[in-house]
Amino acid sequence: MSSFKRGLRNLGRNRSRNLLLILNRRRCCGVVKNIKVKEVSKEFSFGGQIVAALREATFDLEAGNFTCIVGPSGSGKSTLVNLLGGLEGPTAGEIFVGKIPLHRFSEKELTLYRRQSVGFIFQFFHLIPNLSAQENVELPLEFNGLPKARRAERARQCLEAAELGPERFHHNPKRLSGGEQQRVAIARALATNPPLILADEPTGNLDSRTGKAIISLLARLAREEKKIVLVVTHDRDTARQADQVLSIKDGIVSRVEHTA
Ligand SMILES: Nc1ncnc2c1ncn2[C@@H]1O[C@H](COP(=O)(O)OP(=O)(O)OP(=O)(O)O)[C@@H](O)[C@H]1O
Ligand SMILES: [Mg+2]
Repeated sequence: MSSFKRGLRNLGRNRSRNLLLILNRRRCCGVVKNIKVKEVSKEFSFGGQIVAALREATFDLEAGNFTCIVGPSGSGKSTLVNLLGGLEGPTAGEIFVGKIPLHRFSEKELTLYRRQSVGFIFQFFHLIPNLSAQENVELPLEFNGLPKARRAERARQCLEAAELGPERFHHNPKRLSGGEQQRVAIARALATNPPLILADEPTGNLDSRTGKAIISLLARLAREEKKIVLVVTHDRDTARQADQVLSIKDGIVSRVEHTA
């Protein structure tokens, strides 16, 4: 068995918890208590046609809660994540982050919001190809003005928490497997310790053991660190662990009641 696999096997819950404590000692931004989404719609015009990707979505996300969103392909999940993360603005409706009206933000304010308050784990990673795993994780810290030595230390902690073996830290993305790239993307999302974590199918490329470890890390970030965590998933086991499950179909969001 490789030392990488042995390292993964030996990573226990306690170690993960310790890493979590280290990770969260450095707070780069304030607390967000909740996000309120009120009758939010998003339309795209494409080839002369209007596509209604989201239709009057209304729901709340609370700090301390781990929320999952489920729904078929093309139902609007990524659109919703992009709106909450300030990557796009709604066509109609309101999004309040705490008391702050995100739907009224200028481009400049949205850039700051994304940089300081949001950790994205994108569906297709979006890693910078000519930077190493560690440099990819350091990038948001560089944007936030952290000195080089502290960036490197923090990036290594986050990569470890996302269960990437240290022998991979200096590999460029093209020398990493899909699952390893996913873990770098997860580490990058945690780097600035943001109050909001948005994950678009974060375990889609991971084996089931690593996937479970990542989901339990995200759930603990919500419950113990009082973050708002929203995860898009197709995995029923993941959804079962959520405090709240939102279902989306043809752009219509509804809350799924838990049946214990
Ligand atoms: N930039 C865009 N321009 C035009 N249409 C778009 C755009 N982005 C998304 N759409 C459309 O909006 C709908 C919702 O797309 P979205 O990517 O949110 O779905 P999804 O639920 O994330 O799907 P998947 O599970 O396949 O990732 C789809 O019909 C899609 O084609
Ligand atoms: Mg998607």
